Amino acid sequence: MAEMEVDPAFRADVLSGLAAPIRAVPARWLYDRRGSELFERITELPEYYPTRVERGLLERYSADVARIAGTGDAVVEFGSGSSAKTPILLRAVAPSAYVPIDISGNFLRDSSAALQKDFPELPIYPVEGDFMKPIVLPPEVARATKLGFFPGSTIGNMVARTSVDLLRAMKDTLGVGAFLLIGMDRLKDVDTLIRAYDDAQGVTAAFNMNLLHRINAELNGDIPLDAFRHRAIWNDRMARIEMHLEAVRNVAFAVEGQSFAFKAGETIHTENSHKYGLRDSRLLLRAAGWGLCREWTDEDDQFALILAEAEAPRFAP
Ligand code: SAH
Ligand code: AVI
Repeated sequence: MAEMEVDPAFRADVLSGLAAPIRAVPARWLYDRRGSELFERITELPEYYPTRVERGLLERYSADVARIAGTGDAVVEFGSGSSAKTPILLRAVAPSAYVPIDISGNFLRDSSAALQKDFPELPIYPVEGDFMKPIVLPPEVARATKLGFFPGSTIGNMVARTSVDLLRAMKDTLGVGAFLLIGMDRLKDVDTLIRAYDDAQGVTAAFNMNLLHRINAELNGDIPLDAFRHRAIWNDRMARIEMHLEAVRNVAFAVEGQSFAFKAGETIHTENSHKYGLRDSRLLLRAAGWGLCREWTDEDDQFALILAEAEAPRFAP
């Protein structure tokens, strides 16, 4: 069997993350093919409200997006995954091209091929890559005005400083005259949040534990999987759900020949999912040079769909 190609950035992040005083591995590494498939199953769980609510908002308000942002632009989606919600927007804005960007390459290609069947006339240019690094868009869309699409509250998986960096980089990537349609999950009662990230069927637990599978398979690890369990914790000070992998007993293991030891109760921090109040989300966008055009929420104010416009640089008092 051909040896699996290992992303050197994955290797570096895991080895330095496990050796750090507060152990953490960046959440982007949750998404290999199996991780992407598990995330899709999460989106169908009764407890995981964000996908359901955001889909409802897109169904209700995509026509308004088209009225404000216009039609015929190139839609550029960040962290497109299965592109499951995208057809709702594409039908409304009738884009000239669609550029899905995702780090989970095989899954991205399969999703793009499936979407092409439903939109045979639409030019689709998938870009496999890390959207935290500078993204070069395909030359075919260079001259088109862009509508950025960043659904799912994936922005919530970044700390504030990184999200502002990303939103600013998106503004540069999308260029003059661009709009951005972004989904942000709202602050809400802690029970609802914990249930959404620690579901009864254990799908979120499997999604989190998949990181350990991936380390063992790709980085020659011997982590005993039964020594860790999934934890979802609300961090009120930081306004975020945190996913951790907690050692249930003292455990020692090796990854790529390097030894690591955990005491019972110690964790690997694997994901943050920040939740935003009304003013928080607006401030985040403004800090990165995006002006608010419209904001839509559901009746229970669970999730916000926000349309923003790239602001021209101007003097401020
Ligand atoms: N947009 C979809 C999927 C959200 S899951 C939805 O709303 O349901 C987050 C997606 O972002 C995954 O497909 C994951 O592979 C991708 N992703 C996470 N970090 C990324 C990064 N740094 N660069 C590119 N894609 C990333
Ligand atoms: C992709 N992202 C916005 C999801 C979230 O809700 O933070 C990932 C996820 N993690 C656990 N469940 C879902």
